Parts: sequence; structure tokens; C-alpha cells
Amino acid sequence: MTAYSFLTDAAADVAAGLLIVPVFQGAKPGLDLSRLRLRDAYAAAKLTGERGENLLVTRGKGDGFAAGAVLLAGVGAKEVFTVDVARNVMGSVAGTASRFGSVATTVPQAFGVRQAADAVAATAEGLGLGAYRFDRYRSAKKAAPGLKRVIVLGSARWDAKAMRASVKRAATLVDAVSWARDLVNTPAGDMPPAQIAREAQAMAKQAGLSCKVWDERQLKQGGFGGILGVGQGSVNPPRLIELTYTGAGRTTPIALTGKGIAFDSGGLSIKDAKSMEYMKDDMAGAASILATMKVIAMLKPKINVIAAIPCSENMPSGSAQRPGDVITHRGGTTSEVLNTDAEGRLVLADALAYLAERKPQLIIDTATLTGACMVALGDRITGAFSNDAELVAEVVAAGDAEGEPAWELPLFADYRKLIDSPIADIKNTGERYGGAITAAWFLAEFVGDIPWVHLDIAGPAFASAAHDLGPRGGTGVPVRTLVRFLERRADAGS
Ligand code: BES
Ligand code: MN
Ligand code: ZN
Repeated sequence: MTAYSFLTDAAADVAAGLLIVPVFQGAKPGLDLSRLRLRDAYAAAKLTGERGENLLVTRGKGDGFAAGAVLLAGVGAKEVFTVDVARNVMGSVAGTASRFGSVATTVPQAFGVRQAADAVAATAEGLGLGAYRFDRYRSAKKAAPGLKRVIVLGSARWDAKAMRASVKRAATLVDAVSWARDLVNTPAGDMPPAQIAREAQAMAKQAGLSCKVWDERQLKQGGFGGILGVGQGSVNPPRLIELTYTGAGRTTPIALTGKGIAFDSGGLSIKDAKSMEYMKDDMAGAASILATMKVIAMLKPKINVIAAIPCSENMPSGSAQRPGDVITHRGGTTSEVLNTDAEGRLVLADALAYLAERKPQLIIDTATLTGACMVALGDRITGAFSNDAELVAEVVAAGDAEGEPAWELPLFADYRKLIDSPIADIKNTGERYGGAITAAWFLAEFVGDIPWVHLDIAGPAFASAAHDLGPRGGTGVPVRTLVRFLERRADAGS
């Protein structure tokens, strides 16, 4: 694991493997470069500070720095250098930083005292997330040392205690997001529902959360017809993972759930081969809730949080549910399963109904729910749906603060009737168009009048190519959003 620290030492004196110094576009090279005696290198390399322009200077005789090497990183114009850009820039050079083992950077010093805490956190996050790799399945591992140490260099005028807390928060987030990514990236053959549950139990034990796992017999007794129906075609039985965090005595809890489809073949309404390639990621919602609970357990905000995470594998077989079957969800609502590939809403329905019984102050669910949401918003933006305008604005704002964009889509009232069933209470598919909305309407049936936000992460949960903050694969979205939301709720004393 990487060790993170906040220091106020002079950049020139820090003996890290690599020192990263930002170079701004359109600005004269700063004092930093003079102190490091790198103005000649800057001029000789004809640096302009354009984003993505990087110059690596190794140490030689007469250099003014103690680090093994300095990376002059072009970060663009200072006026548009936001905390978000800082996170991404750090992510984009994290691979280089990993080669050096330890890294220090002055990047947060570009920000004023008001943004210092966020800038320090984003810098550490960018480096940690950008250095994430998933190499568990490589036989000949490249001998990359990985990031052993990250040193964030700030101003001595800043509140050191707050900055250290910020670094700790970032380290905790990186650790949990990396875990969520690991869970998503692990092939479905090695991550069936029971294994997700074991991972949850191990995390809960280590982090000090209480954890209860419902097996298939208990699910049957509890009337969880959706979780069971989806899972009945698989040899890997379903599970429901329940986690409880108590940080505020008897306060009404916030409830979380996430879609945990270990693999989504589509069931008997089987997917084509190409669409199935990604479907080990169909438990990304579940993974993100597990990771969020882990962060909360470590940072201990003054709130109460309960989570109920449904895990099933959606497979076709002689025992699989059939299109046209009717299932009874937890709480008694029946649904007609016209398409077995619309399975996420079936498992979430049970979890939402179960959580609603506990009368939480609000519920947030997150799910790789619909291809339709990707059609609407592309693969970077989360679709947000809600029965509460203020609450959804709060969640979207938390995402904005963390560089995890979400956009509200409407629960348009007239579309509700698209999921009316001729024989059951509701059916699990709507029309061809508006599929993300009808899916959200299906979920809405199970939350009653409890304030609720549904986050459709079908796009952003999985990156189809390497990006600034990580390689191809699971991203860990929306862990940072949820953590920020919960922290703000704790600060507001709810
Ligand atoms: N897991 C998929 C949605 C998905 C698609 C996630 C692509 C990530 C990338 C979900 O279970 C699904 O199959 N949804 C169907 C619903 C349809 C049958 C009503 C879809 O979106 O096509
Ligand atoms: Mn599906
Ligand atoms: Zn699915």
C-alpha cells in the first residue's frame, strides 16, 4: 500500500524519487524553477506549459534539487487550473511516478488557502488512482515498483492538521476505490455472489462494520423473489449483503443499495456475444456501495448508514426464469418478467423494499442498469433520477465536487403506465425508447414516499480505454460522490 503525507518542506530539499512541478501555459516560469536550477532545461526544451507536455529531468552534478528526477508537467493555463484538472493531471503522470517508487509534488501550491484542502486531496487522489493497475492475472508481471510513497507539498500558511486530514481522506478513498475496481475487474468466474459476500464480510471485519449475509434459504423465507428469480438459472446461488454503520447513535439512517449482478448473460433473453464482453462489470453498483461503506467506516462521519446489496448471477439454463414468469418481490409487489435481461431492477426492487421497511431518511441506489442511459448521456455521465428535487441536486453537486459528473433525467409521469402489466402489478420492460426512465419508474414502485435517488452508472462504471485516472476497466464510480454526499450530510448534522 502507498503511504501518503503532507509536508511543507522546500521542493528543492525533498529527496523523493520523482518531484513533479507544474508548468503553466502563458506564464513566466515560476520561482520554483529557479530554485531547482531548471530554467535552462525549461528554455532548452522549449516548454510552453501546454497540458500533456512533460519534461523529465534526471539529476546531474550541480542540480538544485534533492529528488532523483524532476518532471516538469504542463498543466495548461492557470485561470482554468481547477481542482478537477489538478486531479486529472496528476492521474495522467501517475504511471511515470510509479517507476520512481516515491513521488512529491508542489501542485497544490497553485491554489489559495480556501481551496487548499480540496487541492491537496485531489492531488493525492489523482496520483493514487492514476497509478492503479490490475495485474492479478498476469503471469509475467512487469517489475513496476508501484507507488510506495506520495508526498504532497503545501504551504506552511495552511492549517497543517486539516491538510493531513485531507491526505488521509484521499488515501482512504484511493484504497477503497481501488478495491471496488478490483472487484469489478475480477472475472465473473472468480467473483460469484458468494465471493462478493465473502469480500464484504472480510472488509466489514477489518473496518469494524456489522455485516449479515442472507443465503438462498433465508432469501426464500424472506420473500426476496426478485433476487431468487434472477439467480435461479445459475449454479452460483444469490446472496443479500447487509452492512450497518453507526456513527450517530439513534439518528434515522441513510440507506444505500447497489446492483450486484455477478455476470449478466441476459438469461434466456440472452445477449449477443459482443454485449456480453463487459458484463462482469454488472456488479459495479454493489462494489461501489461496499467501497463507500469501507470509507465511511474508516473516516467515521457522524451519521448512520445501512446498506442492503443484492447479488445474483443472471444465467440461462433449464432452471432459469422464463420470459412471462411472474415473481413476487419482498413486500408482496408482483412483476411480470417479459425480458430476463432487464434483471437489475428485479434484484434492486427487493433490496429497495427491504430498506424502505426500515424507514430510512433517504435511499440512494446505484446500478449499471440500462444501455438506454448510455445512449442518452454517453459513457462518462451518470444518469440521476429522483422523487425529490432537492435531494438529487445535492447528490449531483457532490459528484461535481469530486469530478464524477451526473445529470438528472426526468421521471416523466406519463411514462409510468409503460410498465403496467396485463396480469401482474408491473412488468419489467417498457417500450423501446426511454428505457432508462421506465427502469427508474420500476424502481420507484418500491421506495414508497421515502426520498430517493437512483444513479444509473451503466456508462461511467467501466472505462473502455485507459483514462487519466486509471486503466481500462472498473472506475469505482460513484464512490467519491457518495462519500462526499455522506460527509456533507454529517457536517450538516443529519
Ligand atoms: N446490465 C445491463 C445494462 C448495461 C448495458 C450495462 C450496457 C452496461 C453496459 C442491463 O441488465 C440490461 O441488460 N438492460 C437492458 C434492459 C432492456 C432489456 C429493457 C438494456 O439496457 O438493453
Ligand atoms: Mn441485463
Ligand atoms: Zn444487467
